[in-house]
Amino acid sequence: MKPKVLITRMLPQPALDIALTQCNVDLNRRDVRYAKKQLIRRLKGKAGMICLLTDTIDAEVLRKSPHLKVVSNVAAGLDNIDVQAATRHGIMVTNTPGVLTETTAEFAWALLLATARRVVEADRFVRAGKWKEWMLTGFLGRDLYGKTLGICGLGRIGSAVARRARGFNMRIRYTQRYRNEAKERELNATYMDKMTLLKESDFLVLVLPLTPETRHYIGPKELKAMKETAILINVARGPIVEEKALLHALKKKTIAAAGLDVFEREPKVLRGLLRLQNVVLAPHIASASMETRARMACMAAENCVAAVSGHRPPNLVNPEVLTLR
Ligand code: GLV
Repeated sequence: MKPKVLITRMLPQPALDIALTQCNVDLNRRDVRYAKKQLIRRLKGKAGMICLLTDTIDAEVLRKSPHLKVVSNVAAGLDNIDVQAATRHGIMVTNTPGVLTETTAEFAWALLLATARRVVEADRFVRAGKWKEWMLTGFLGRDLYGKTLGICGLGRIGSAVARRARGFNMRIRYTQRYRNEAKERELNATYMDKMTLLKESDFLVLVLPLTPETRHYIGPKELKAMKETAILINVARGPIVEEKALLHALKKKTIAAAGLDVFEREPKVLRGLLRLQNVVLAPHIASASMETRARMACMAAENCVAAVSGHRPPNLVNPEVLTLR
């Protein structure tokens, strides 16, 4: 008998095919997120689940799913899953690292350029029929060339952001918990403590994982330390930034602009942000290229199939679970 697997949302067909050939699949074709009760009900008797970052897989869901062997997330981030609880229950957790690195870095750059050069604001202006004459001093933005790029988190994505900065002749500065001297040499990057980085950066890109330590990593104190001309980009997770404090800083122009792909209470966006011109908003699409989303989904399907077939999944994040069994 094929192992039973729940797929909580629609996936690209190649990923569905991987799961369908090896598993008995219960697929949420409505493609609307399950409420917690529904999710627990659907998980009854399932050996595996493939889920998205919109699914909250907390201790209760895991406790009430005694047959579950694996939670396979179609994401690199794992903040929607209580990994410790999964480990306690002997459940494997997998993610999709690596495949989205370049795509996410490209989107960080899309936001950098869009905010610095006011692309979205200019587009709105033209569409509204407001463009009457060429303007020498209209829509003045900021150059990236030769400026200081601060990166919070020089991991895979942070490094890919830094590599792209070479073409813009930028000074690369970074902060994270531990210095990485090999990376510093490779990327010509300089380590700084967080507050110094905030003070020195013209552009600040957040690429940290969301953990209890990084929740509200950028709040009023940090925003105050930034330059009035600085631009903040968040392609990590919304709760890393205290959104109300950011709204205040953008309104008061204590920083110049922000490019946000993620929000504290997705898909809700603070209403005040919607009214500002100096912010570019995107619906969590940094990894959303056709190639990358398909690869992420296939990878998640492969992780799930491996685990429910008794193999070690390639992207297991809690290997302790194998020895605890
Ligand atoms: C997307 O945000 C991811 O974590 O993969």
